[in-house]
Amino acid sequence: MQVLPNGAKWIPGFLTREAQENLVETVREIVKSAPLFVPKMPKTGKEMSVRMTNCGSLGWVTDKENGYRYQTTHPVNGAPWPDIPNSILRIWTEISAYPHDPEACLINFYNQNAKMGLHQDRDEDDFEAPVVSISLGDSCLFRVGETTRTGRTTSFKLQSGDAVILTGKSRLAFHGVEKIYPDTSTLLKNGGRINLTLRRVTKPSNLTSI
Ligand code: SIN
Ligand code: MN
Repeated sequence: MQVLPNGAKWIPGFLTREAQENLVETVREIVKSAPLFVPKMPKTGKEMSVRMTNCGSLGWVTDKENGYRYQTTHPVNGAPWPDIPNSILRIWTEISAYPHDPEACLINFYNQNAKMGLHQDRDEDDFEAPVVSISLGDSCLFRVGETTRTGRTTSFKLQSGDAVILTGKSRLAFHGVEKIYPDTSTLLKNGGRINLTLRRVTKPSNLTSI
């Protein structure tokens, strides 16, 4: 494991090839009931270059009218998001060091031209929980910085099977995907990159009994 500035963690080769293949199958199953949708920027309605879907009790969505938010249903077909499969929950348990389950698993699909601008993950009520992300397929250039947009940044190449954990001070670090390196993985038969982002959204209740 590599510890980056502000305590972000990078685990190269976290998933074996077999585990990556199984995870791709799991994602394909999720996409059957929760198809990829086109996220749009708040206010301008400009289409983002990634395609998205979610599993979990809460899914992250964005559109022109209502902006960034979590909701319980798919924005196109109106169905509740599928549950987070146990194999994905196990990844969280293994590396989050956080005692409650994630509620959201955002699935981003990047074609070879897609990218994601520098942003903070701050639509959650609970910043105590880390953000855990898994890369599958083509490599990307990932950039992570400080908690201000103009802070110093570091970029590095994420490969299929790598995990990144934004925790502690880095929980609110700006980060983004600058580019995809085409044809750098054989995992996805048509190329591109999948990123899974696991997040706790609500603060866990302290009540153990009433
Ligand atoms: C994200 O920040 O939503 C995605 C990060 C990634 O694709 O690695
Ligand atoms: Mn993010």
